[in-house]
Amino acid sequence: MHGTQTTKQSPSANRTQRLLAWYDVHRRDLPWRAKPGAAADPYRVWLSEIMLQQTTVQAVAGYYRKFVGRWPTVRALAEAAPDDVLAAWAGLGYYARARNLHKAAKMVAGEMGGRFPSTAEALRALPGIGAYTSGAIAAIAFDAPEAAMDVNAERVIARLFAVDEPLPGAKAKLLSLGRSLVPEKRAGDFAQALMDLGAGICTVKRPACEDCPWTDGCEARKRGIAETLPVKSPKVARPLRRGAAFVARDGKGAVLLVKRPEKGLLGGMLQPPLGPWGEKFPSAKAALAQAPFRAAWKKLPGLVYHGFTHFELEIVVWATKVATRPTIDGVWLDDLSNAALPTVMRKIIAHAVEYRGPLFRQAKSARRR
Ligand code: ADE
Repeated sequence: MHGTQTTKQSPSANRTQRLLAWYDVHRRDLPWRAKPGAAADPYRVWLSEIMLQQTTVQAVAGYYRKFVGRWPTVRALAEAAPDDVLAAWAGLGYYARARNLHKAAKMVAGEMGGRFPSTAEALRALPGIGAYTSGAIAAIAFDAPEAAMDVNAERVIARLFAVDEPLPGAKAKLLSLGRSLVPEKRAGDFAQALMDLGAGICTVKRPACEDCPWTDGCEARKRGIAETLPVKSPKVARPLRRGAAFVARDGKGAVLLVKRPEKGLLGGMLQPPLGPWGEKFPSAKAALAQAPFRAAWKKLPGLVYHGFTHFELEIVVWATKVATRPTIDGVWLDDLSNAALPTVMRKIIAHAVEYRGPLFRQAKSARRR
């Protein structure tokens, strides 16, 4: 045949092109995203992907800006003091991420000469990078033809192909279906397009199918089951743990804080002294034996609740004010704004600081009135 040649595209290539065309018009402007046509900075892509693990775009934006403002390159981050990195991370949760972030920065700045590896496989050798994150960084920073299946992308793919097996069991199947759509060129845009489609159009509830570039070929829409997908296995109940916290303040309002062990939950972060966690709250006698020093401790009304991934925590707060600081291990901080305090510890301190009742047992004469 002569004249114009039409190249026949496979249905999946066609789908991919439709999504990329949609992305060119509707892409979100996110702080870590390179502008259209501009090269991505692997450091920024990596930093954002670590922050975005199990955390929302909204929660990450401010932290991301703070980090790149303070540590604009992987070398700068590698040279930071570990405690400064933890303190800057405070409030973002999953603190092992911050420790791994710093370790990985040192590896890249050191033995890798300041350059991030460009394949998913090599990226996985860095601490804190698993299957999802390695695919996301390889695709977004290096345009390697890798899939990046986060929860949003999984939902889109589950619906497009009407996969009704429950998650997490269906993950491998969704990954392979997702991979089948990844283009040779523009893999990074494709990965981000899938995320944007999931976040803005193919939402958990009431998806905006009429605005979706994939509405025609969507199997779940055809069957009227889009909102029911993906199916999730029933959640296992999280155990409840309980304990006591001790918030001591001096005359100027400085709070006594101690450092948690480096390993384990909230490792290396600060906290007010805490007793052990068990099924029940400690009795008053047991709690006073757990207190960091002898003082007129008062049990405050109410409790602090915090949900962790694998358990829930209820804390009763004991508080005291001291005229002079007792000599014990710990630091007394009056400005907590830049302290390495996890959210749960800030809640505990706020509970004590906001308490307006008397901290010391009132004198008999005062009580009689
Ligand atoms: N979630 C995980 N990575 C993301 C990214 N690069 N953009 C938006 N949402 C994300």
